Amino acid sequence: MLIEALAPRTSHQANDPVARPKILIADEDPRNLMALEAILAAPDREIIQAQSGSEMLSRVRQDDVAVVVLDARMPDLDRFQVAARIKADHCPSRASIVLVVACGDDELNFASDFAAGGVDYVFRPINPTFLRSKIDMLIDLYRKTDQVRRLAEQEKRLLLENLRIQKEKIVAEQRLREREQHQSLVLKSLPIALYTATSGPGLRRLRFTNDSIRRLSGFSSSDFVRQPNLWEARLNPEEHGRVTQAFAEIEKAGSASVEYRWRCADGTEKHLFDHAVLSEVRKDGSRELFGFWLDVSDRRSLETDLLHASKLEAVGRLTGGIVHDFRNMLSVVISNLDLLHLLIRDNGSACRRLRSALEGAQTCAELTGRLLAFVRRRSIETDVVDVIEAVESIRDLLVCALGANIQIRTSYDKDCWPVHVDRPQLEAAIVNLAINARDAMPDGGQLSLCVKNVCRAADDRGHEDPATQEYVRIVVSDTGVGMLAEVAEQIFEPFFTTKNGGKGSGLGLSMVRHFARESNGNVTVRSAPGCGTQIFLDLPRARLEEPPQIESTLFDLSA
Ligand SMILES: Nc1ncnc2c1ncn2[C@@H]1O[C@H](COP(=O)(O)OP(=O)(O)OP(=O)(O)O)[C@@H](O)[C@H]1O
Ligand SMILES: [Mg+2]
Repeated sequence: MLIEALAPRTSHQANDPVARPKILIADEDPRNLMALEAILAAPDREIIQAQSGSEMLSRVRQDDVAVVVLDARMPDLDRFQVAARIKADHCPSRASIVLVVACGDDELNFASDFAAGGVDYVFRPINPTFLRSKIDMLIDLYRKTDQVRRLAEQEKRLLLENLRIQKEKIVAEQRLREREQHQSLVLKSLPIALYTATSGPGLRRLRFTNDSIRRLSGFSSSDFVRQPNLWEARLNPEEHGRVTQAFAEIEKAGSASVEYRWRCADGTEKHLFDHAVLSEVRKDGSRELFGFWLDVSDRRSLETDLLHASKLEAVGRLTGGIVHDFRNMLSVVISNLDLLHLLIRDNGSACRRLRSALEGAQTCAELTGRLLAFVRRRSIETDVVDVIEAVESIRDLLVCALGANIQIRTSYDKDCWPVHVDRPQLEAAIVNLAINARDAMPDGGQLSLCVKNVCRAADDRGHEDPATQEYVRIVVSDTGVGMLAEVAEQIFEPFFTTKNGGKGSGLGLSMVRHFARESNGNVTVRSAPGCGTQIFLDLPRARLEEPPQIESTLFDLSA
């Protein structure tokens, strides 16, 4: 449309009035008309004739006439009204009017003629050269005026078009800005970190494209650019082979999803779900990976809990059925062995064998007792408990259980907060931890029991929970053999034990963890081979309720 409007017009265009401007000659005498046509005729103009005033007006109304050469004495026309009539009829003419008058004309009145729209005069007898040059000049004026008008129209069109484009551009820019803002908001709020990475063999160079990476890993996007091996260096060594293999296969498969443990900037390990797809081959033959990280640590921890719970349930079902009968049979065995002892009192070697059989049977009885205690789901009876007082109450028991080779040391925070727990379970947990410590110190050593208040701003996963920020921490430390990292990872699993020969059931720490979780607390371990072990049992501080405001409720007379 615009192109069409701007295209230059050639003088050959059929309807172009400027190509052959029209000259209208109006005179009632045909001889005069013939003479005028002879003077004015030229190939670049068209001559049209009118023999009366009304004919002249009708031609002017139909065509765009450039010049009217008008006999001032037309009988049916008041020459002073010519211009007014032409304008009133809204005719397309932009004609200049040249009046042909006789020398000494009585009605010659220049002022009125010009006011009526006349432009010029020629006097009879007509000088042809004079008339032609006058008309040429007017034709030229007509052409120039038309050119100016066209240019002005073109300029106006251009201006309007320009304005329209500017407006569209502004609207498009605004939409783009809004979309960018929207996208950046979405990207910021996503719980995933988006990345691009180099593909092919060698290091995976990651470049994170949204800010979530800092929240997720503690590192910024530029840290990954500065240290190209950052991702690989912090990958859990046990997972390294599996993960690099998965990403190597992406070249064939086109995409890969893999879950792995990754060490964050604060040293904690997170479970990450990493999904990447391979881009199309670029012109230079290279390809790129597009992917995202999702922190699935919470899901993994829930899965572990679920697994733990289902194991416990399985143990419960299994033991529930058989333990009762098993215990009955064992009591028969033990009482018969006791009776047998009376009969073979005089036979020394038989007595020794009998004793060891009796010991074995009693260990089995203890084991079944523990299993029963573990699976029996009695409702917890929580109470506000003073931890230091609870520890002190079992101190004698611990001294007996640990033996003379092991020294017990205690250290307590002054003004330790109370906790809200099931007291027998708390005591059983401490005994369990102490017995484990004893077993880890076969040649003696030191057991430390420490009770202190701890305030934590957030839990290990960075989740803030103001209600559980204050804990009482019980630390049971020993100077024993310690344990390997892979052992430490499993010690809270039911039935995990390193104690051979039926010495351990692997239920002690599982029960401790069960108790900690039920009390809204937590239990963790720190240990290394040859460096002893520390077990941290955290129990939330008990919030003692305000004593009821009896006075104000009973005697409030204000109502
Ligand atoms: N203080 C410790 N030092 C070294 N290893 C420990 C310590 N405490 C626990 N362990 C390891 O954790 C394992 C599991 O302990 P847990 O108390 O659950 O079972 P157990 O002591 O083997 O058997 P149970 O307590 O049922 O008699 C132990 O077998 C041991 O390998
Ligand atoms: Mg134990």
